[in-house]
Amino acid sequence: MQILILGAGAGGGVPQWNCHCDVCAGIRHKKINAKERTQSSIAISSDGKDWILINASPDLRQQINHEPKLWPEDGVKRGTSITSIILTDSQIDHTTGLLTLREGLPLPVHCTDVVYEDLTTGFPLFNMLKHWHGGLQRRVIETDHTAAFKPEGCGTLEFKPVVLESNAPPYSKYRDNIVPGNNIGLKITDTETNKVLFYAPGCMQASPLVKQMLSEADCVLFDGTLWLDDEMISNGFSDRLGTQMGHMPVNGENGAIAMLNEYDIERKILIHINNTNPVLNEDSSAYEALTKQSIELAYDGMEITL
Ligand code: MLT
Ligand code: MN
Ligand code: ZN
Repeated sequence: MQILILGAGAGGGVPQWNCHCDVCAGIRHKKINAKERTQSSIAISSDGKDWILINASPDLRQQINHEPKLWPEDGVKRGTSITSIILTDSQIDHTTGLLTLREGLPLPVHCTDVVYEDLTTGFPLFNMLKHWHGGLQRRVIETDHTAAFKPEGCGTLEFKPVVLESNAPPYSKYRDNIVPGNNIGLKITDTETNKVLFYAPGCMQASPLVKQMLSEADCVLFDGTLWLDDEMISNGFSDRLGTQMGHMPVNGENGAIAMLNEYDIERKILIHINNTNPVLNEDSSAYEALTKQSIELAYDGMEITL
């Protein structure tokens, strides 16, 4: 299986347009050693020809234009190598890119019932996009982690939904009151090689199911949004903890590093990294602590072969 990291940042990207925190200002003024990152999206393929897009970021146009693997074969005047789309939630940073795809519809879009509900009410992308070439073709993702599904173009890959505890977007009727399906991770198995990827960009709890997935994975792409639970509060940007937003911190005894350290996984990679996270500065003690523990930080353009 081939994995392309199209965008490794969380909502807002790095740097965020209106943010002048240490990382954003440091990057803008070239004062720190840190990479810019676009907003959260990856693509997966079993054969390197057909690609499944997982989450459609507001930066999707730029991400596709920078990634030749997502372009159609020579001679095709209009087209794409993206054969289907999977959404893990209805957050703005994971869905707004569907608008960018309007010229290339119809495309199949897999999501749970509650994500579909958000995207036909609070943020009615499915309704609006009906008016473009047949629109988004909805496909159902169940909330049962044994309910495997095979999106168009997936080849030997098999996808299973992993219900996660996180949060729904501010516009959603499920905000702070989630039900199974508002947030899922994905267990992706290549049935030819038996290699397993666990992708969980938004997760605030190491539930038994999450632990089971970690014990079965060869590679994990895990929520790296914030270094500290009170990072948004101490920066003066929000009155909410990371866990209230739906993200477990990376550091600390209940953090992602401590959790990942309990498992023997070939590659452990943090993704969906918020611009306030000090780990983005590659000269920081946070970055040193991470790499010492053999955990990687995803970056735009990163390619993983499993
Ligand atoms: C989140 O996962 O909480 C988001 O990045 C929020 C957003 O897109 O604004
Ligand atoms: Mn997000
Ligand atoms: Zn910032």
